[in-house]
Amino acid sequence: RYTAEPFVPARGGLPALRKAAADCHGCPLHRDATRTVFGAGKADARVMLVGEQPGDQEDRQGEPFVGPAGKLLDRALAEAGIDPADAYVTNAVKHFKFTRTEPRKRRIHKAPTLREMTACGPWLAAELARVEPELIVVLGATAGKALLGSSFRVTQVRGTVLEEEIHGHPQRLVPTVHPSAVLRAAAEGRDGAYRGLVSDLRVAAQALS
Ligand code: URA
Ligand code: SF4
Repeated sequence: RYTAEPFVPARGGLPALRKAAADCHGCPLHRDATRTVFGAGKADARVMLVGEQPGDQEDRQGEPFVGPAGKLLDRALAEAGIDPADAYVTNAVKHFKFTRTEPRKRRIHKAPTLREMTACGPWLAAELARVEPELIVVLGATAGKALLGSSFRVTQVRGTVLEEEIHGHPQRLVPTVHPSAVLRAAAEGRDGAYRGLVSDLRVAAQALS
């Protein structure tokens, strides 16, 4: 069974977690990726945003949501009235998974499997235990499945406040679409998809006020 468990320190704050995660070999994804991309933000952040996995830019830079999806997310957060300084940003899976059609060609993101999400779960659980956010914003299906189980359907629950037990603690969550889904939307649907993301994030902003 793949699991990050033996790599997760029982004690210490976020810096200790980040340091230990850099050497995680809990599943095979560490082999091809450049580095672990751990969550970023303050330990006293009121809201935790959970994405899928680092993308190409995140893998290069070592920080979550610094590529195109992150830029769009920052804009949507600002529009919804969520201060980035109030947010801790992380991913369900901490290594970039990709395919390459040819050597030296662009790396194409590949969705993580349930096994990889489950393997990486102890890191997300440890982040939740350290940050203790008032609210979790679930960005897309992978984050939803990682936190709420494989029956999660983003279209059914987006823009609503859920109350669920996560790793033994009651949590409030607002699911929405992944910012990459907005970027992937066909040109004529992109503005509507972006508006939908902002509108869901406004529900989160309201739940925090
Ligand atoms: N997509 C994600 O889910 N996370 C990132 O950090 C970047 C892109
Ligand atoms: Fe460890 Fe997660 Fe990376 Fe797998 S994806 S090696 S479990 S940090």
